[in-house]
Amino acid sequence: MSSLDILVIDDHPAILDDFRRLLVAEAGAPAALPAFRVHAAPHGLAGVERHAQLLAAHTPPSVAFVDIHMPPGIDGLETVSRLWAAQPDLEVVLCSAYSDDAWHVILERLARREQFLILGKPFDPIEVRQLAVCLSEKWRRGRELARRMDDLEAQVAREVSRRLDIELQNAQKFEMLGRLSAGITHEISTPLQYVQSNLEAVTEMSADARAELAAAPPNVGEAGALLGQMPGALADALDGVRRITGIVRSVRQFAHTRQQRDLEPVDVNAQIGMVVTLARSEYKHHAEIALELQPLPRVPGDADLLGRALLNLLVNSAHAIRARGGPIGRITIRTFADDGGVLVEIADTGIGIPPDLQERVFEPFFTTKPRGQGTGQGLSMVRDAIVDVHHGRVSFESEPDIGTTFHLWLPSDAGAEVAA
Ligand SMILES: Nc1ncnc2c1ncn2[C@@H]1O[C@H](COP(=O)(O)OP(=O)(O)OP(=O)(O)O)[C@@H](O)[C@H]1O
Ligand SMILES: [Mg+2]
Repeated sequence: MSSLDILVIDDHPAILDDFRRLLVAEAGAPAALPAFRVHAAPHGLAGVERHAQLLAAHTPPSVAFVDIHMPPGIDGLETVSRLWAAQPDLEVVLCSAYSDDAWHVILERLARREQFLILGKPFDPIEVRQLAVCLSEKWRRGRELARRMDDLEAQVAREVSRRLDIELQNAQKFEMLGRLSAGITHEISTPLQYVQSNLEAVTEMSADARAELAAAPPNVGEAGALLGQMPGALADALDGVRRITGIVRSVRQFAHTRQQRDLEPVDVNAQIGMVVTLARSEYKHHAEIALELQPLPRVPGDADLLGRALLNLLVNSAHAIRARGGPIGRITIRTFADDGGVLVEIADTGIGIPPDLQERVFEPFFTTKPRGQGTGQGLSMVRDAIVDVHHGRVSFESEPDIGTTFHLWLPSDAGAEVAA
């Protein structure tokens, strides 16, 4: 154990010497005492000053032995009050040659009644040693406890912040979903109308055809013509239903919340298809999409997380093109397989990212969008998902007024984390 510092404040030089002799183990003596270092001061103010030096040197004393009566200057009780003001956990032994020091006066003047003892002079060497040993240990344990409490608090704070992060991620996801759902509703309503009017037409046609066949004589030619139109109308209706089914499936997959980050084989092209469907309302008025998707091996991944990362990139591209204004832009999504994994490129003809901001775009909460339109978490989520979870890489190049291309690389071997 490192040495313990003891402060002794007394106006009798002989007493200061006694303390040194009693508390500092002589060289070669059995180590019956802890390693004490004794710091002596001849009066109250000198004691307060010595104490301040010890605190500044990060060697706070564990115990102060303070004489109550020290003329001239401040008395022992005032000295102790000042020491406690600077170091509240200091253990104190008040030394007095007088038995008439009224206890209630001491209690009135000293705030911490559980932190001082009284030692009558002349003292018994055993008493002095035993007091120093016990009080130092009490002080040491108090500090240890405080340190553990601090650790514990820090641990709790870390855990709370981790959980808040997760909540924030979920909130962000739902916010995005909310934003998209208005567009999705619109996407669904068009084919739905289409389905409805086609089915209504078929219903009418079949009723008319039946009437023509029931007439005497039956008008077979007219009925045949009506029946002949039905397959086309039904095919159109079916096409609409398929589109709706696709959209609904994408929404369901996206909304599926999963905390666990088990990596399982993911079809990246399929994720891109899903995201392109989901984000249509964000880009369709500003950009056309070109998909150049090569056949890919499945990569170990978290489909949900990957989908959200791709969605963030696609929405960013749509916004960058919208911000540029002018003629309709283009978002090109390319995929390739390479030796070690899968490459995805998302290129847009948007406003680009100014060179001085390029270093900052991955920072959480960095956004150039007006308040309420961007949270600045899109790209930081992309990096977390691609780099931390998938052990892949993200980079981009961008030229103002020309456009931006993001490159993702996902390894086909994410090591031990691949789900069996
Ligand atoms: N394709 C891009 N073209 C131009 N600028 C981009 C592009 N992608 C990102 N940026 C810039 O990077 C910033 C940060 O993007 P990020 O996706 O992290 O946040 P955001 O889009 O502003 O908000 P959020 O995604 O949370 O709604 C954007 O505000 C924008 O300035
Ligand atoms: Mg974004």
